[in-house]
Formats: sequence, structure tokens, C-alpha cells
Amino acid sequence: MEIVKTITQMKYTRSQLEEPVGFVPTMGFLHEGHLSLIRGAHKQNVSIVTSIFVNPTQFGPHEDFETYPRDTDRDLSLLEAEGCDVVFIPTVEEIYPTKFDSWIEVGEITKKLEGVHRVGHFRGVTTIVGILFNIIQPTAAYFGQKDAQQAIVIKKMVSDLNMDLKVITLPTIRESDGLAMSSRNSYLNPKERSQAKVLFQALELAQKHYLNNEKDSNIIRQEMTKLIRRQPLASIDYISIANNNTLEEQSIIKPPTLISLAVSIGKTRLIDNILIE
Ligand code: PAJ
Repeated sequence: MEIVKTITQMKYTRSQLEEPVGFVPTMGFLHEGHLSLIRGAHKQNVSIVTSIFVNPTQFGPHEDFETYPRDTDRDLSLLEAEGCDVVFIPTVEEIYPTKFDSWIEVGEITKKLEGVHRVGHFRGVTTIVGILFNIIQPTAAYFGQKDAQQAIVIKKMVSDLNMDLKVITLPTIRESDGLAMSSRNSYLNPKERSQAKVLFQALELAQKHYLNNEKDSNIIRQEMTKLIRRQPLASIDYISIANNNTLEEQSIIKPPTLISLAVSIGKTRLIDNILIE
């Protein structure tokens, strides 16, 4: 496995890779969710590139950029074991030199859900992902359903800007109690960790009501809210029931519907979702 730190070297290494090239962008502190994307990429490509870059421009001023968990040595051994060919680990200065001042911004769909709470977040995400796509020129790039809105926003960017690659979304990987894997789960103390399973329980409850023919979003949202409020450390940021393409809220569920939520457990803000197709 080759470890690459500079853009110049990455472009050269890329030019030597056998096609097709699958790309998995990450911020490191890898878990089974990330590794599932690499496995998915392996099925459709000959060469695999992963990036590890904690991207400062997608963190708000009061968010956790400084304290975001990092363990590069562990990440590299996991990637080696997965048969990843190239890992791109640039420094912040390599990607954002002092006078850097160009941004990629997707419109309406970035102003909903996560975009309401995390202003500027998606501009940071699309800019870094656009930069990485330009450097790596992948045949296909792989994203997790866990960050559903992110995947939708990236697809919109690729389509609007005619970027020449496929964007593939793969399923959310969960712990045995249903909690979606996330690097940020490491912030949870044992009490919080136990209450964090309420996010997925609320999504399962929503699905159960839907399958029992309840289509009224308000009723489903109320049921989810009641369940979450039973956990003393949980506070709801939003529960959204929206069209999966436009992210417009639906008062009556009409698939494809993305049911998504953001809930803080103590100080840790977690997101999760399910798709009704
Ligand atoms: P990060 O949070 O490290 O996630 C990297 C990729 O792993 C994303 O596509 C994310 O959706 C996926 N992922 C995370 N948890 C998952 C899970 N439990 N199951 C399946 N996939 C999961 O998302 C980012 O980094 C950044 O925003 C990035 C795209 C790298 C741009 O900086």
C-alpha cells in the first residue's frame, strides 16, 4: 500500500493505477462503516484509493475540528488489511495554501436538515470532495447512507458540474444494538452510549407505523418524539420526513422518503436515517 502526502505525488501515482479506480474519501478514525465502503469499492474496481483528511472547512467555529478523533497508524493498518492500494493523507496546508479562496456551493438542498444547524458545512464538504475528485480522478466514489444528505449533495454537484465519475451510496453499518457507526460515537460515555440507541429505535418505530399504514408524517413524528424524550440525555435537533431527492418535507409519506433525525446525547450530536422506497 502506498502512502501519499502531496498533490503532485498523488497525481503521478494515480496515473500509474490500473482502471477502474474506486475512491473512498474519509476523515479517518476508521470503523466498519468506512471499511464497508472500501469492500464495496473493491467489488467494482481494480484499484482503490482512500483519503484521510480531517477537513477544517466543513467544521463550524464551535464544532469539534481540533478534538476530532485521529489515529492514523491504526487507520493505515486497517486499510492495508482491506487491500487498499493508495492512501492519500495531505496536510491542511497542502490542500488549503494561504491564499486559497475558491469554493463549490450546491444550492437549495444544502439549506435543509443538516444545513440549517451546520451553516457552511456543505460548502466545506463539496469543496474538499471536488478538490479530491480533481486530484484523484476516480472512476467511482463511494459514500455512506449514514450521511444521506451529504451523498445527495455530492450527487447533485457531480451532475450539475458534469464531473466524470459515478457516485455510489452504500448502506449504513450499525452496532449490534442498532446505533449507526460513527467516529463521533467515541465521545459517548457509557450512560450516553446506552441512550444513543434511541435514534435507531425511533427510526424503527417510524417504519413500523408506516408499514401499519400510517402515512401521516405529523403522527409518526410525534411517536418518534415521545420515544426519544424518554431518554433523559437526549435532546432532539430535528426529525425530518422528506422526499429523498428534493429533501422537501412531506406531510403525507410518499416514497422515496428519507426519515432522518439529529439528536444530541449529552454534548454529542448524532444523526441517522432510514429510507422508505
Ligand atoms: P467521514 O465521517 O469519515 O465518513 C466517510 C464516509 O464514511 C462517508 O461517506 C460516510 O457517510 C461513511 N460512513 C460513516 N459512517 C458510516 C456507517 N456507519 N455506515 C456506512 N458508511 C458510513 O463524511 C465524511 O467523512 C466527510 O464529510 C468527507 C466526505 C470525507 C469529506 O470531508
